[in-house]
Amino acid sequence: MKRVLSGLQPSGQLHVGNYAGAIQQFVQLQDSHEMYVFIASYHALTSSRDANELRQNIRQVVIDYVAFGLDPAKTNIYLQQDVPQVTELSWLLSCICPKHMMDKATSYKDKVAKGLAASIGLYTYPVLQAADILAVDADLVPVGEDQRQHIEITRDLASKFNHYYGDVFKLPDAMIREEAGVVPGVDGQKMSKSYGNTLDPFMDEKPLRKRIMKIKTDSLGVDDPKDPDTCTVYQIFRALAGPDSEQTQALASRYRNGGMGYGEAKQTLFEFILEHFRDARSKRLELTNDPGYIEQVLKDGAEAANKIIGNVTDRARKAAGL
Ligand code: TYM
Repeated sequence: MKRVLSGLQPSGQLHVGNYAGAIQQFVQLQDSHEMYVFIASYHALTSSRDANELRQNIRQVVIDYVAFGLDPAKTNIYLQQDVPQVTELSWLLSCICPKHMMDKATSYKDKVAKGLAASIGLYTYPVLQAADILAVDADLVPVGEDQRQHIEITRDLASKFNHYYGDVFKLPDAMIREEAGVVPGVDGQKMSKSYGNTLDPFMDEKPLRKRIMKIKTDSLGVDDPKDPDTCTVYQIFRALAGPDSEQTQALASRYRNGGMGYGEAKQTLFEFILEHFRDARSKRLELTNDPGYIEQVLKDGAEAANKIIGNVTDRARKAAGL
C-alpha cells in the first residue's frame, strides 16, 4: 500500500482552493492508501506572531479536516510539534542543502514581496517541508500546483543525502489534480488568503451567495455561446465536481450552447457548494462542541506518526555518523 503525506498551514480560514487542491484528494485517497496528514504549525510560525490565534487556528484545521471527511480511523492526523524529530531531520538536511537551492525557491520571494518578514525560518522553509515528507518515507504528496517546487526540492535533498550517506530516504512524487492545481478566486487570480479573493465553504448562505455573485466574468450576454474554460465560475465548479462528472459536462454544454447567463451559472455554483459542503457544515458544528474527541484524534495520530518518524530519524542519524 502506498504511503501518502500532506499538510496545511494553520493560517486562518481554509478556502475552496485548499479543499479542491489538497483536502479533496486526501479524502479520496484514504480508502486505498496509508495516510499521514498533519498540521504545519512550525511552518505557520514564519508568519504568525499571535500565540492565541495560532493555537485556535491549529485546532480549527483539525476540526475542518474531519468535517471535510478525513476519517481518523483511516488517516493519521497529527500536529507537527508532536513529532519534534522532524526538526532534527530538517537540520540534517540543512547541512547538505546548497544555499543556491534556497535562493531559487520562489515561495520565499513571493512571500517577502507580499510583506512577510524575511526570516531565516522563511528562507529555509522548504528544508523543513522536505523533512516532513521524508520523515514518513512518503510515496505520494497530494498538493496544489504552488507546492510543486517544494516537492522537487524534497527529491533533490533526498538524492543528495542518499549520495553522501547511502540509501536512506525514499524519493516522493507530487500528486496534483490537473483541474484543481490552481483554483481561481473571485477576481480570477489564484485563490489565496493574501489576495482576499477566497470562497469559504463554511460561510453563511447569504454572504456566500453574495460573494459568488461577485465572481468576475466577461460581459457576454445571456444568449451568447461562452467558453467554459476561460470562465472562473466554471473553473471553480469543475475543480469541486471533477471534470468527468455529469454536472460539470452539463454545465460546459450550457456554456457552449448559449442561453445561459453568468447569473445563472453563479446560482448553479452556489447551489452546488451548499449541497457539496452540507455534511461538512453540520459535522463542523458537532466537532466544535467535542474538544475531547479532537484531542484523542491528535493523540492517536501523534503516536502513529512518532513510530515511523522515530525509525526514519534514527536511520538518518546513524547514516550521517551520529
Ligand atoms: P498551504 O497551507 O499554503 O496550502 C495547503 C494546500 O492547499 C493548496 N492550495 C491550492 N490548491 C489549488 N488552488 C489554490 N488556489 C490553492 N491554494 C492553496 C496548496 O497547494 C497546498 O497543497 N507548504 C505547505 C504546507 C506544508 C506541506 C508540507 C504540504 C508543509 N509541509 C509537506 C505538503 C507536504 C503550504 O504552505 O500549504
